[in-house]
Amino acid sequence: MKLKSQINDVIKNAFVKAGIEHEPMSVTEATKPEFGDYQFNGAMALAKRLGKNPRQIAEMIMENLDFSGIVVKAQIAGPGFLNLWINPLWIAQQVQSALHDERLGVSKRENPIKVVVDYSGPNMAKQMHVGHLRSTIIGDTLANLLTFLGDEVIRQNHIGDWGTQFGMLIAYLEETDEDGSGSLKDLEQFYKDAKERFDADEAFADKAREYVVKIQSGDEHCLKLWQKFIDISLRHCEDVYDKLCVKLTRDDVKAESFYNKDLPEVIEELLEKNMLTKSDGAQCIFLEGEEIPVIVQKGDGGYLYATTDLAALRYRANVLEAKRIAYVVDARQGGHFKQVFKVAKESGFVPEDVKLEHIAFGTMMDKNGKPFKTRDGGTVKLIDLLDEAVVKAKGAIKDKEGYSKEEVEALAKIIGIGAVKYADLAINRESNYIFNWDKMLSFDGNTSLYMQYAYARIQSIFRKFNGEIKGDIVIGDALEHRLSVMLLRFEDMLESAADNATPNQITAYLYDLATLFMRFYEHNPILKEGVDEKTKMSRLQLADLTAKTIKQGLDILGIEVVDRL
Ligand code: ARG
Repeated sequence: MKLKSQINDVIKNAFVKAGIEHEPMSVTEATKPEFGDYQFNGAMALAKRLGKNPRQIAEMIMENLDFSGIVVKAQIAGPGFLNLWINPLWIAQQVQSALHDERLGVSKRENPIKVVVDYSGPNMAKQMHVGHLRSTIIGDTLANLLTFLGDEVIRQNHIGDWGTQFGMLIAYLEETDEDGSGSLKDLEQFYKDAKERFDADEAFADKAREYVVKIQSGDEHCLKLWQKFIDISLRHCEDVYDKLCVKLTRDDVKAESFYNKDLPEVIEELLEKNMLTKSDGAQCIFLEGEEIPVIVQKGDGGYLYATTDLAALRYRANVLEAKRIAYVVDARQGGHFKQVFKVAKESGFVPEDVKLEHIAFGTMMDKNGKPFKTRDGGTVKLIDLLDEAVVKAKGAIKDKEGYSKEEVEALAKIIGIGAVKYADLAINRESNYIFNWDKMLSFDGNTSLYMQYAYARIQSIFRKFNGEIKGDIVIGDALEHRLSVMLLRFEDMLESAADNATPNQITAYLYDLATLFMRFYEHNPILKEGVDEKTKMSRLQLADLTAKTIKQGLDILGIEVVDRL
């Protein structure tokens, strides 16, 4: 339910009754229990305009507030804040209806839009590395979130499968093992070997250059080799996607090469619009206020990363008809996207009303704040990292006795992969990210394990109870009140996380929710002797909705729950 907008409506009605004209204003969530559930602090701004003091305004609103519905109490505080309390009877009803709704009371968007989420985008010439981890995890979450809210999401994996290095790679593939079954097991090594060969042997280097031209001109033999190479490389990525439980499939792949046929048209259209300037033989776009131009075609006729991205934007806006296009890419490409977006709008490739966003994220660092590397200074391979996560997670399972070997294995996978994903999602995405095994695999703090533990704990309550839940929810005390309001804020939080593309809002919410639940459970026993039947039933339902909300929240993050931990 959209809780905030319901409270806003109450305030709006008070404005109307008081005869105050106003701009749209919004309540905020109260930061402390003594401030009520929501706070209205628009009186300050209004006071100036109306020539009154803020407290007078707050009083005028208070006098006209309807206390017979959602809001039951209001209090003026400080210079003119209005603290608002929600009716516990109303809350109880809403929690109950959320509990009986498979979407937990979260409505689907009234006006869903088509959204392209561009994420992962590994380069086929090399093994996927930790740099692609963040894009894959954040992008998948964003796509899940928008899908859940009802948007029509089109996942796009803009893989790097084109460029001069492929000449060298396929020439080497032809020489070593044409079907690639052996030599391409380790792409990183293959690349190194090919490069060594390229640097050492002039004849090989010539062949590599010749093959670049041949792929571009559609030579069958070379294209076949290239296709083989891409296929195997992509399969490596899919191993990683499987391990990560992300939803990217082959159907989502729209590679750079897909846009090759559009590139001459892109240049043509830019020419027609008089946007191109020749500089040192290259076709450039000089944008107002920007020192460095966007180069769209080199002197030798070759196209660039930016040209392909312009073609992709054009395709996404006009063929896919997306109204929002979100690029989940490293913050260091910020300049590139700023320029490309500007060109796309100025050229009319993308209509004015389409929202273009660079969902930037920071660099992954090791514990000492250095870019993440292996001990010998190489790049860490993603697959190795994920395997390590599972091994480490096994160590975190406290009570292995109660499980079979296979169960420990399955559990470790859920915990380990969940930990890696959650740690990545829980920070402000634009910050650099310090990778720390101990922290991410801890039962305490804002971790997936903490959330999975809270969920499992609630399941154990239900196992013990083992009966049928009936009766109404009754909000018995302040803690139950807070827990319920928190549960009803789920939709507002998801909407905000979707608008701002901030998965850490989801993790922060889940963490607060689980923490609040633990406190509630400590103070308000459920199955203990002496708890009367009505109270027990009511508390069980609060616990149930808490568990369901945690599960749904984690599901959006692409993390599984377990019934026992
Ligand atoms: N392949 C690129 C890289 O590894 C990322 C692609 C991002 N998407 C895009 N449309 N440019 O840096």
